Amino acid sequence: MKVGVIGAGTMGSGIAQVASTANCQVYLYDSQVAALDKSQQKLAQIMERLVMKGRLTEEKAQQIQQNIYYVQDLNELASSDLVIEAIIENPEIKKQVFSQLEPLLSAEAIIASNTSSLSIASLAAVCQRPERFVGIHFFNPAPLMKLVEIIPAVQTSTIVLGRANDIIASWGKHTVIAKDTPGFIVNRVARPFYGEALRIYDEGIADIPTIDWAMKQIGQFRMGPFELMDFIGNDVNYTVTETVFKAFYFDPRYRPSFTQKRMSEAGYLGRKSGRGYYDYKAGASHPAPKADNKLGQAIVDRIVVMLINEAADALHFKVASREDIDAAMTKGVNYPKGLLSWADEIGIENCVERLDQLFDYYRESRYRCSPLLRKMAEAGSRFFPTEKATPHF
Ligand SMILES: NC(=O)c1ccc[n+]([C@@H]2O[C@H](COP(=O)([O-])OP(=O)(O)OC[C@H]3O[C@@H](n4cnc5c(N)ncnc54)[C@H](O)[C@@H]3O)[C@@H](O)[C@H]2O)c1
Repeated sequence: MKVGVIGAGTMGSGIAQVASTANCQVYLYDSQVAALDKSQQKLAQIMERLVMKGRLTEEKAQQIQQNIYYVQDLNELASSDLVIEAIIENPEIKKQVFSQLEPLLSAEAIIASNTSSLSIASLAAVCQRPERFVGIHFFNPAPLMKLVEIIPAVQTSTIVLGRANDIIASWGKHTVIAKDTPGFIVNRVARPFYGEALRIYDEGIADIPTIDWAMKQIGQFRMGPFELMDFIGNDVNYTVTETVFKAFYFDPRYRPSFTQKRMSEAGYLGRKSGRGYYDYKAGASHPAPKADNKLGQAIVDRIVVMLINEAADALHFKVASREDIDAAMTKGVNYPKGLLSWADEIGIENCVERLDQLFDYYRESRYRCSPLLRKMAEAGSRFFPTEKATPHF
């Protein structure tokens, strides 16, 4: 199978590696020669490391590298069966590329975008055959992250959706189907992990090391929200939040934090700039958390219930199935449990009570409980019913 990848940056290089490992012939195109060179060198380093660690045979490593053709001419992608675009997040530039690409392809070829924030429908609309267009959203780093969101646009044909899903699954990925809505599944449902942590900090309820400690130690998340924002970059994370906020017509649930905006403006971007919420310079010490279990539990309860509310609302609005919403958060961002299963564990009624307490206290629609949670609490149902009960949604 011939796969075209457009853009040899972080995501395009990773996607090319995944497709090549699955024995596809990959044509990786970038408008910058330097990007192609860097991509090729980086792959050679990754392969060397994997061979040294015994995770890959020398032969397979060679084959993965030989399967990728680094090309500076878009025409080389002609007759690809699937082309995945992963260039800069600019709608006009992306649309221009699709218009140039489509005439080179056969009528059956699939065109996909790895966009994180643009609507798939708006990109599909520039194609002569928009039914062949689909969103295929990988996570960073693409070779390591199991999850891929497959996003049909309103124009996408069911055949194309099925084929795209089968191809990506055959590459060893766990696919989930997401509705073409802002943030798809992961970038929407994960917002309170950052936003509610920032809100708790902004209100002076706890300091940064304590919030991170609570989420790791008590919540069992791999990283605390502030550590994770520093890892992602405050500029990048802030932009995702602001984009989702605007795309949801300024729903207060997604409102960005001034604290993060100022960090970004100050150039305190996180690990990459040597300073973010924490200091990453050599020898710098990190302040100790206030290891108070009662406070820690309250922090976890508040952030987790806001995440559950977001997951429930995504289900309420049919963004994805309950299985896919839970898989997306465990496989896309390594959450310790699926949020809907977590709600079952806590008890739906308890979740509604916690949300109502927050809403009563703040009187902000940010804390409104999803109608689905309330309906389920009233009916005494669960997201993943035990064998005796039957779901009704
Ligand atoms: N970085 C992430 O964590 C992440 C995760 C999921 C999805 N995405 C999405 O993937 C896409 C790429 O992101 P990235 O982080 O890999 O970007 P990047 O900046 O690392 O790479 C973009 C590459 O595209 C090339 N490019 C720009 N314009 C081009 C054009 N007209 N023709 C050909 N090549 C062109 C650039 O030279 C660069 O090499 C974006 O749509 C982004 O939203 C990013």
